[in-house]
Amino acid sequence: MKDHVLDRIRNIDDLPTLPSVALEVLSLAHQSDVTIQSIAESIHRDPPLAAKVLRMANSVFYRRGDRKVDTLHHAIIFLGLAEIINITTSLSVFSALKSRKTQEVSVRESFWDHSVATGLIARHIDKKLGMRTMGREFVAGLLHDIGKIILDQYFHQEFMAAYNMSIEKDRPMYETEMEMCGTNHMEVGYFIAQKWNLPPYLADVVLWHHQPSQASSREMAALISMANLLAKAAQLSCGDRMSFVLADQEAWKVLKERGLPVDELDIERITFEMESIGDQVKSYISTVMEPSDKEQDNG
Ligand SMILES: [Fe+2]
Ligand SMILES: [Fe+2]
Repeated sequence: MKDHVLDRIRNIDDLPTLPSVALEVLSLAHQSDVTIQSIAESIHRDPPLAAKVLRMANSVFYRRGDRKVDTLHHAIIFLGLAEIINITTSLSVFSALKSRKTQEVSVRESFWDHSVATGLIARHIDKKLGMRTMGREFVAGLLHDIGKIILDQYFHQEFMAAYNMSIEKDRPMYETEMEMCGTNHMEVGYFIAQKWNLPPYLADVVLWHHQPSQASSREMAALISMANLLAKAAQLSCGDRMSFVLADQEAWKVLKERGLPVDELDIERITFEMESIGDQVKSYISTVMEPSDKEQDNG
């Protein structure tokens, strides 16, 4: 039976869907003649989403200076179109995949903590290396493991067996998932990313974040791969917590090959800076979640 998990996921009728506005914004993003007006109008068609985007734009994560933005139009001018598209995508995925009562609260929490931490760390390294990925690194970090949420929702027992085995035996989740589910979170996540028409760089990161040298968006996949490892080193893991030497990792080698100054990264300093990451993660999650989401979580 386990060999058919991916096929069975392909045939599930009630897989989570992205809000139509998110799909529209993502497709507008690819058009060369996209305007501030068209993006703002599109987001406004989903008033709760519009309110959340505005709230995020004013949060500590995105706010620039003291000035509060009170319209989406202003938010786009201040943060730029790319960042607003990132925020819209993150919020939409977050709401599409948020809590299901069947899931274990501890796993779900560790999943989101790990995902947000990976996004924040990716943003940090991106700045240090001068990669200028324009906020796309945060979305990619946030979404890299979405396959785990789908496996957990629809194949809960098998997923939990893989999760526990990974912790007990100190083995990577993608290996134990393969054993227990006959697929892994990268394959499942890639399927969902394509189904949702997420931009190719995101689908690529979802599929290759454990083998970044195989990716088409190699730099981005390597950045997320490294952020993923550092999130685990900061004790923000969803599953395995294996130790590693960063300079031996595929991600490190890829970034180095691409001419990025990884050798200049002061890992001790980054590890020190990462100590506050747990608080930043909590602050991000409480900004994104509505009070009603939290109530649902306790249920
Ligand atoms: Fe992963
Ligand atoms: Fe991960």
